[in-house]
Amino acid sequence: MSDNYIQRLENAYKSLMGKVNFSPDILLVLGSGLGDIADEMQVETVVEYRDIDGMPISTVDGHKGRFVFGYIRGAKVVVMQGRLHYYEGYTPQECIMPIRLAALMGAKVMFLTNASGGITYPEIGDLMRITDHISLVPSPLRGENYPKLGKRFPDMSKPYDEELGNIVDGVAKELNIDLKKGVYIQFQGPNFETASEIRMAKTLGADAVGMSSAIEVIGARHAGMRVVGLACIVNPACGITDITLDNVNESEGVAKSADKIRNILFNSLERIKEVL
Ligand code: HPA
Repeated sequence: MSDNYIQRLENAYKSLMGKVNFSPDILLVLGSGLGDIADEMQVETVVEYRDIDGMPISTVDGHKGRFVFGYIRGAKVVVMQGRLHYYEGYTPQECIMPIRLAALMGAKVMFLTNASGGITYPEIGDLMRITDHISLVPSPLRGENYPKLGKRFPDMSKPYDEELGNIVDGVAKELNIDLKKGVYIQFQGPNFETASEIRMAKTLGADAVGMSSAIEVIGARHAGMRVVGLACIVNPACGITDITLDNVNESEGVAKSADKIRNILFNSLERIKEVL
């Protein structure tokens, strides 16, 4: 499987390089309901995942499945509009293919956003900068290593970059936005967690829960990218309140914090580009 995977990744890279002549510094991973942020960028090129040889295609509503290359506030970015989730049936290795492609193209930073359930900060619309994570999903680095990108046993002592995190905290403060900080835990999904699983997560030190980001961060760190992550709380996690999670609407939840995220993101990019 892994031999094929590396071949597939290399083919995808070759295919992508035949379609775009742009070297991004920053990869933006936009979660459900935030893809529209890309509408405000100065677009150079759009490449649909389905047009890249061997690339998995995202199947979730609200996720478009394409790379958008261009500029935001002068920063050279590639936006991953639509991420690939483990719960869709992709392997963790497949989930990080777009991240690895961005790294191969030269991206040095990954700035990700996601929709999460809130454990410590359960208000819909709360925003939490991720300072560490716990992954309950198999590692996306399992299988043959790809030394072109990184080491067999990459360090995970500080996966979220302190300098860039401080920039983002400073921007939020200037904008008077209450940006929480905490630990993200990734469950496999697609079912939401039980109340007991959330109690367990809380005991383990998790502040927000989701189904996407930890494996992406592992992929990015393996490739040496510096990482910033923002979790948008779209529901109180199971058992934190007594509502059921039948009607979680990620896009609506994210819409509550979309302006805050956009402001933090754009102003942070302007500063992050100066320290690369
Ligand atoms: N749990 C897991 N993933 C999620 C949640 C949740 O409560 N809300 C949004 N994504």
